[in-house]
Amino acid sequence: MIIAANLKTNLTREKTAKYIKEVEHFLNQHNISQEVFVFPAVSNLMSSTSKVVVGTQNAYPAVNGAFTGEIGYEQLEEFGIKTILIGHSERRHVIGETQESLIAKFDFYKNLGFKIIYCVGEPLNVREMGHKAMMEYISKQYEGIDTAYENLIIAYEPVWAIGSGLTPTLEDIEMVHKDLKIKSAAPLLYGGSVKVSNITEFLTLDNVDGVLVGSAALYAEHFCTMCEHAQNLEKK
Ligand code: 13P
Repeated sequence: MIIAANLKTNLTREKTAKYIKEVEHFLNQHNISQEVFVFPAVSNLMSSTSKVVVGTQNAYPAVNGAFTGEIGYEQLEEFGIKTILIGHSERRHVIGETQESLIAKFDFYKNLGFKIIYCVGEPLNVREMGHKAMMEYISKQYEGIDTAYENLIIAYEPVWAIGSGLTPTLEDIEMVHKDLKIKSAAPLLYGGSVKVSNITEFLTLDNVDGVLVGSAALYAEHFCTMCEHAQNLEKK
């Protein structure tokens, strides 16, 4: 299974280094063989360890150049970063990235062979319009995206479930994931208020291949426990 931590705009470089070291140590000590990703803030990027793949939360679709405030491939290459999150709810709704700009980013990093975790998800007002309207909204987020890309992972994160403590029902997640698997056979993660106490419920659902965790992953100890829960499921 895939267990990913999105650290967002949290932790310092020193704390991030300690975090990754702690997770690496735990995964080794407990023989955890899950696919584990950590996405630190861009100022805290560093090389992957043997068990923890470090990815970037964002990058501009350019090697380098005049793109004030952005980072490009040159800055990622320094740390051997080959994994990127694209289309996260906060990039779409807070920063205001358009589908067109996400497509440009996707294509650029796809051509470089990056592993792409592409995020989709609906805001609350759309969910309240019913399943059909919601799936139409999410379908638009697939427009222009190569859903057959071999290094693609998709993350379904309902906007209203992010950082809110709210989650869809397990039946709802299964229903959405079933529909999304038809759009792309790529591994499909669930994200939105995942924590130590509910991760196992999500990971046992059909068509859930892993999770993308925000706030509950900020403490290395909690993130490690979540990785352990995933490992325990596979042993059964
Ligand atoms: P929370 O786990 O804090 O809800 O955030 C989810 C998320 O946005 C992961 O990308």
